[in-house]
Amino acid sequence: MPADRKARVGILISGRGSNMAALIDAAGREDCPYEVAIVISNVPDAPGLAYAADRGIPTFALSHKGVKRAEFDLLVDGALRDARIEYVALAGYMRLLSPGFVDRWAGRMVNIHPSLLPAYKGLDTHQRALDAGETRHGCTVHLVTAELDDGPILAQAEVPILPGDDSATLANRVLVEEHRLYPAALAALIRRTDAVQPPAAIITPGQE
Ligand code: GRF
Repeated sequence: MPADRKARVGILISGRGSNMAALIDAAGREDCPYEVAIVISNVPDAPGLAYAADRGIPTFALSHKGVKRAEFDLLVDGALRDARIEYVALAGYMRLLSPGFVDRWAGRMVNIHPSLLPAYKGLDTHQRALDAGETRHGCTVHLVTAELDDGPILAQAEVPILPGDDSATLANRVLVEEHRLYPAALAALIRRTDAVQPPAAIITPGQE
């Protein structure tokens, strides 16, 4: 990838969007290989949308309620295509994805999960790690495949579980690492992928 070209990333959120904010903030650095070109939410009042909009990033919000999963995902995919997105980052996107959507973005869609996968897939990871008496916990960035929280692992960060931790203190400790790990893992994937296989769908200035 030419040093001056930045890959176009779309971020999907459902809520607070602190990982989205970390990805956006990292994109502001000159040596970052991506820019955040759209933020999409299935929750129209997701707090993260305002953070993105305040930074001039286009947003698209559409409630999934009453829409079939595959149809909803087609609408999201349309918004991503319209924004000429090359990579998708799920950041607290609380939706199961349809197989067609997962296939369409295979190798170019990442997720962050608050556990050391393959341990603790799914929800309530912090409490489950505490209940199991773990001494270590953390977060994982992985490629998204059809099975929930199951794709190839790109990067992990570990934290200790300390005496007196509850799920809130543990979640906060993990979240600090999530915000470091996610931008770094996404940047590494983009550098690697674009070097090997430039995305076919890119429209460069002058061709539009
Ligand atoms: C994070 O813990 C992330 O790992 C998980 O959902 C949470 C989203 O938090 N997938 P935020 O919206 O990024 O603040």
